[in-house]
Amino acid sequence: MNDFDWVAMADMLELEGEAETPSVRQALAELKHLTPRWILDVGSGPGVAACRLAAAFPQAEVIAVDGAPELLARAEERAERLGVRLRTRVAEFPAGLADLGPADLVWSARVVHHVGDQQGALDQLAGLLVPGGVLAVVEGGLPARWLPRDLGFGRPGLQARLDAGMAERFNQMRAELPGSVAVVEDWPGMLRAAGLTEVRSKAFLVDHPAPLGDVPRRSVRQALERRRAVLGELLDVEDLAALDRLLDPADPGGVDRRADLFLLTATSVHFGRRP
Ligand SMILES: C[S@@+](CC[C@H](N)C(=O)[O-])C[C@H]1O[C@@H](n2cnc3c(N)ncnc32)[C@H](O)[C@@H]1O
Repeated sequence: MNDFDWVAMADMLELEGEAETPSVRQALAELKHLTPRWILDVGSGPGVAACRLAAAFPQAEVIAVDGAPELLARAEERAERLGVRLRTRVAEFPAGLADLGPADLVWSARVVHHVGDQQGALDQLAGLLVPGGVLAVVEGGLPARWLPRDLGFGRPGLQARLDAGMAERFNQMRAELPGSVAVVEDWPGMLRAAGLTEVRSKAFLVDHPAPLGDVPRRSVRQALERRRAVLGELLDVEDLAALDRLLDPADPGGVDRRADLFLLTATSVHFGRRP
């Protein structure tokens, strides 16, 4: 695993997963013609999507796979709370996956981009499938939008500058991964290069309009706290001050209180079938 402290990000991952549930639901509806018996969620984190898979395919053995045992413990708690059947397995991606297959459905969301050799990772995920099995990879999509362009304080356009900063951090993260290989991130092309057929990509909308309910609101707070923590050197003083106001629980313009906060994003899922 790389240097991310995934365990420290557990709350954020869980809230993000919950806020993005509408897109997972829509993506799983695309797979409802399948009757998978063995499903892997590789890089499941705290298991929000894995529990959805378990609910959507109650006849299947669903295994949440992750390198972080603490996150898998949360996935188990979640499954118990929701009354769905889920097993977990600690494994490092890609080296530890060899004995996990063969699976009828492999779901892997936002993990391949944390592996140095992304094409190699996709090859390995595709290799876990039975003939006829389906791989669904969540990568790309659109950065989330939460904030009006003009917040009423600071320089308008903060969200676009946060996105630019995160894109820069993402480049650094990729460059520092062990065995990092540059590749054209053409996800459908990469699934085809992994030997899959019937490849298609579809984007699913997540649209929580203002005023935000508790879960998406807390998810936005977590995401902004993360940006405050990792973008300190990349933002100017005015933007940092605006971020601090947004994160101040007592500030009426802060994310806990403002009525105009929303959550709008699109999740891209790339599907392919093993011939
Ligand atoms: C961005 S999170 C995505 C979690 C979840 N799939 C989602 O969409 O919310 C990445 C997850 O992949 C796991 N992960 C990252 N690199 C890994 C590796 N090399 N082996 C196993 N798990 C890894 C992390 O522990 C984390 O749970």
